[in-house]
Amino acid sequence: MPPPEKSFARDLATSHFAIAGADLRIGDIPVRELAARYGTPLFIYDGSVMRRSYRALAEALSGFARIHYSVKANPTAAIIRLFCDEGAGVEIASLGEYRVAQAAGVKPEDILFAGPAKGARELEIVVAGGIGEIHLESLEEIARLTAIAARLNVTVPVSIRVNPVASAQGGAMRMGGKPAPFGFDEETISEVVGKVLSAPQLDLRGVHLFAGTQILDEAVLLAQWRHGIDVAGRVAAIAGQPLKTIDLGGGLGIPYFAGDGQLDLAKLSAGLPGLRQQLKSDPRLADARLVVEPGRFLAGPAGIYVVAINAAKVSRGARFLITDGGMHHHLAASGNLGQIIKRDYPILAPAHMNATEASSATIVGPLCTPLDTLARKVEMPNLSAGDLIAVLQSGAYGRTASPVGFLSHPLPSEILIEDGKIEVIHLKEA
Ligand SMILES: Cc1ncc(COP(=O)(O)O)c(C=O)c1O
Repeated sequence: MPPPEKSFARDLATSHFAIAGADLRIGDIPVRELAARYGTPLFIYDGSVMRRSYRALAEALSGFARIHYSVKANPTAAIIRLFCDEGAGVEIASLGEYRVAQAAGVKPEDILFAGPAKGARELEIVVAGGIGEIHLESLEEIARLTAIAARLNVTVPVSIRVNPVASAQGGAMRMGGKPAPFGFDEETISEVVGKVLSAPQLDLRGVHLFAGTQILDEAVLLAQWRHGIDVAGRVAAIAGQPLKTIDLGGGLGIPYFAGDGQLDLAKLSAGLPGLRQQLKSDPRLADARLVVEPGRFLAGPAGIYVVAINAAKVSRGARFLITDGGMHHHLAASGNLGQIIKRDYPILAPAHMNATEASSATIVGPLCTPLDTLARKVEMPNLSAGDLIAVLQSGAYGRTASPVGFLSHPLPSEILIEDGKIEVIHLKEA
């Protein structure tokens, strides 16, 4: 009987990719071959899995909301292009992300810009280059943007980001309902609406809420969205004008640990007629365009992080597999990206998928810190130096959410595979 973690990782691998004999295959190529060709550590992203996630969500939200890919999850131009090709817009949080979106060919009107500390220079460049909406998050930002718009003699489309009073129960990392630097507290919206309306250079289009990430319960999402529409109604009433957009945020979760469920898209979809009714009943919201801006849900399942074992060591009875990659490339998998309880990401040996024997091992990276641990006392095949280990669910918040400069190892290789085509995103220096 395999331990649950093992079967959980295997189930994920089977549903996203393919297993043939000893090999995990991505895009019909053994991971072993990809690792030999591009070196390790290596992030592999499967474009067809990304499209599958996008299409499933787009179908569930059909006629309700447009999807904007949250670029911070994986700011790779080829991945942004893939989602936009499917019909998505994007949500960005910096000038750097704006530039990648531009390089990926995203139209300015399809870009929404949120973030709690947008600087004058980045605002100016984005306004001059064209932007769908800027989501205002502080009084200073309102003043800064008004001055820039006046200087450039343009009107800037804006939304008010609201930090909601109701917290998102069930989200692993709550960002709403408590003191937060993100957006304006819901209790203060009258004052904020007044400030925005008093600046003729700002065109108030809507509201934006983002209450938390890694939400696996569709009822929690629907409750947040209902609350978002309620806030939108109040903003429209205070402003005395209809809203053009309501951005309900991202936060759609994916399973990382044995026992985690999948977000039930059918149930999510079944809850939308009620929200549509809520929108229709308010003439100021009836024509608003709804936006949902997930990152993790779209990119996460499609990626794996492959590392090679450099040494297999027993220390005082405990077996360690010491690999060439770790928290400097994949902080989240080491449990150090905001997790309160450290639990192991789904992990497997991609060239030993038919192994029948297993033993307990702790898998660690090359950094000189015990924080650099990828799995704690997991059952793995009997692996030795040169063998590969893969961390699943690694397509979002991987390399770019990690302290890549810590200990000065090279950046990992990264590739995107789709329809037999391999796009090299980055090749690790030799
Ligand atoms: C404003 C905003 N939108 C979208 C996202 C994407 O969240 P997720 O990847 O959980 O969908 C984030 C993540 O922090 C965010 O801050």
